[in-house]
Amino acid sequence: MPSSSPPPSTLTEGVQLYQADPVQLQAELAAGLLAPHASVSPKFFYDRLGSHLFDAITELPEYYPTRTEAAIFRQCLADMAQHLPAQAVWIDLGAGSCAKAARLFGTVNPAAYVPVDISAAYLTQALEPLRREHPDLPMLGVGMDFSAHWALPAEAQGWLADRGLDAAPRCVFYPGSSIGNFGPDDALRLLAESHAVCRAGGKGSGLLIGVDRVKDVGLLEPAYDDALGVTAAFNRNLLLHVNRQLGSDFNPAGWDHVAFFNREASRIEMHLAARRPQTVRWPGGQRGFETGERIHTENSYKWQPAAFADLLQRAGFGQPLHWTDPQGWFSVFWAPA
Ligand code: AVI
Repeated sequence: MPSSSPPPSTLTEGVQLYQADPVQLQAELAAGLLAPHASVSPKFFYDRLGSHLFDAITELPEYYPTRTEAAIFRQCLADMAQHLPAQAVWIDLGAGSCAKAARLFGTVNPAAYVPVDISAAYLTQALEPLRREHPDLPMLGVGMDFSAHWALPAEAQGWLADRGLDAAPRCVFYPGSSIGNFGPDDALRLLAESHAVCRAGGKGSGLLIGVDRVKDVGLLEPAYDDALGVTAAFNRNLLLHVNRQLGSDFNPAGWDHVAFFNREASRIEMHLAARRPQTVRWPGGQRGFETGERIHTENSYKWQPAAFADLLQRAGFGQPLHWTDPQGWFSVFWAPA
């Protein structure tokens, strides 16, 4: 994983872009591919095409999390808003298209919006229309990898201070159950780091987070193996992204999409399985794969609400509030810092 020291940044139309160090990314990719059980981090899903494919996944009939969470926000936002700080700095982790946060602006009335996403190009594109719609809302997009270490970059803190917002309450917004893509230890670390980001803000700060719940395998598995094959394309596209980053020669057509619920670990696992024996080469390395041999590309943990509330408190937050849908498929927590 990349180290925590921020790489150099450039400024494009007010969007602060942190370029990942390509040498570090190559080393990370090669190490994962050469491990006895090959793996590639799910962060490599999100190049430009991957981000669009993910947006398409959220429209699929089988992929219930996005629409279920959206319904919880529609039905419970008025109640939630009574607990959320007004005039807060909204820090949107893994913002992607920024659409989820933007839908809340009218009710929560933020003082500033700071979306954070690994795909700086996608973020830049997403912010353009948002700036036109909300010309008076200060916005700073931060393109960075927060998967290994998360703290608000000094430039973003300076940007807030320049606007007199360094002591404003902060709402860290992490919807979509992206926390599920971290194992329990890393999830605890990310939540503790989010707690520190909140604590650096004013009174009333906290974390608003969406979490997918354990449910019937007959609902879980199709959500990650849809009939149209969009999730399969999303999974295979990772290989094209790896080819660009590493200079490797993966042929996506040689790999099958595999997704299943691992009940013991309480997670969906996604893998790519070799369709035939093949050797993948990149500058300075190569790896042979037998038929059926897999590359592990993603875990998506499913939580019981009580266990997640406990995790939030272990990360330093106070007693969380919790909203859910009538079927109990998905949960939204407000965790005061
Ligand atoms: C981004 N994340 C919450 C999605 C999930 O459900 O774990 C990523 C995804 N992978 C396959 N489909 C969606």
